[in-house]
Amino acid sequence: MKNSIFLKTLKGEETNRPPVWFMRQAGRVLPSYMALRKDYSFSEMMADPKLAAKVTLLPVHDLGVDAAILFSDILVIPEAMGMKLEFTDKGPVFENPLKDEANPLDCLLPDSSKLEYIYANIEEIIKTRPKNIPLIGFCGSPLTTFCYMVQGISRNHTFPEAVAMLYKNKEVAKKILERITDLSILYAKNQIKSGIEAFQLFETHAGLIPQNLYFEMIMPSVKRIAKAVKETGTPFIYMPKGLGFGLEKIEPSDADFISVDWQTPIEKARQLIHKDIGIQGNLDPRILLADKQSIEKELNNYLEFGKNNNNWIFNLGHGLIPQIPFENVKFVVDWVKNADWK
Ligand code: CP3
Repeated sequence: MKNSIFLKTLKGEETNRPPVWFMRQAGRVLPSYMALRKDYSFSEMMADPKLAAKVTLLPVHDLGVDAAILFSDILVIPEAMGMKLEFTDKGPVFENPLKDEANPLDCLLPDSSKLEYIYANIEEIIKTRPKNIPLIGFCGSPLTTFCYMVQGISRNHTFPEAVAMLYKNKEVAKKILERITDLSILYAKNQIKSGIEAFQLFETHAGLIPQNLYFEMIMPSVKRIAKAVKETGTPFIYMPKGLGFGLEKIEPSDADFISVDWQTPIEKARQLIHKDIGIQGNLDPRILLADKQSIEKELNNYLEFGKNNNNWIFNLGHGLIPQIPFENVKFVVDWVKNADWK
C-alpha cells in the first residue's frame, strides 16, 4: 500500500499533515454501530466475518479516519486459553477469574485454533476496505491481560489481587505472563500473515504499578512481542498508559511509535522518548464532551508541535468513551485534515 498517510508516517516519510485515527473508534460513538448493536451482540458481530468487517470499516466511512483498527477485543487471548468470558452491558466478565483458583496455571490451556475466526475477519476486511486504508491489528499487553485474567472484572481498575500476585507470588505470575506472551506472539504473527499492516500493543494499565516493577516483570514480555512483530517488517506501536518517566527507558528496538497518554504533555513526551521513536496521541477523549469552541482551542495547542514533528500520529490519550457525541469526533478529524501544518 503506497499511498497511506498513516503508513508513510510510521515509516518516517514526510507528509503534509499528521495522520488521524482513534482508539476505540469501532464502537459506541458511531450511530451506525449502535444501530447494528440493536440486532447483534458484540460476540455475534465478532463471529461473523461480514459483520466484523463492516464494523471495522464504519469509522473509515463515517468519520474519515486514515486507518482502520480490527474490530475485536484484547480479551480474546484469555478466552483462547480456556477462560470463560461474557461481554455484558457492564463490560466483560470472566466466569472463573484466576484469583479464585488454587492452581491458576492448571486452568490455562492455550488453544490457538480458537483465534482462527479472527484471521477470517481480517481477510474479509482486507477484501472490502477502501483503497489506501491500512488495517491495524492489536492485542493486549501482558500486564493488562493478566489483570483481567486474575481479577475478572474490576470496576475501579485497581486490580488489587492481580497486583498482589506480582509482589507475593512472582514465580506463578511470571509463568502466567509467559503463557500470555507466547500466545500473543503467535496471534500477532498470524494477524500479520492474514494482512494487517501495523500492530498496536494496548497496555492500558501500565500506570498501575511502579516503574521498576513494570520493567522487571512486564518489559521482557513487551520486548519479545515487539521483536516478533518488527522482525516481519510490520510497524509496531506501543501504548503504555501511565508509564510516566518510564517512557525514557523505552528503546527503539521496543517500539517504532509510542502512544502517549494525556497525563504527559506532548512536548514533554517528545523530550523523554528516544528520538528515533515516533509519537502517537494524546488528546484527552473527555474534551470531546465539551462544545466545539473548547475543543478547537485544545486542538490549536497541537499546531506548533505538528509543524515541528513529522513523526507524529494524531490520536487520543486513551479510547473514545460512549458518551462522546459523534459530531465532535468528526469535527476533530476534519480539523486535523484541514489545519495549516506548514
Ligand atoms: O479500537 C477499536 O475500536 C477496536 C476494537 C477494540 C475493542 N476493545 C472493542 C470493544 C479494542 C482495541 C479494544 C481494546 C480493549 N478492550 C482494551 C485496551 C484499550 C482500552 O480501551 O483500555 C481493554 C482494557 C479492553 C477490555 C474491554 N472490552 C472492556 C473494559 C470493555 C467494556 C467497556 C467498553 O468500553 O464497552 C470491553 C468491551 C468492548 N470492546 C466494546 C467494544 C466495541 C463494547 C462492546 C459493546 O458494544 O457492548
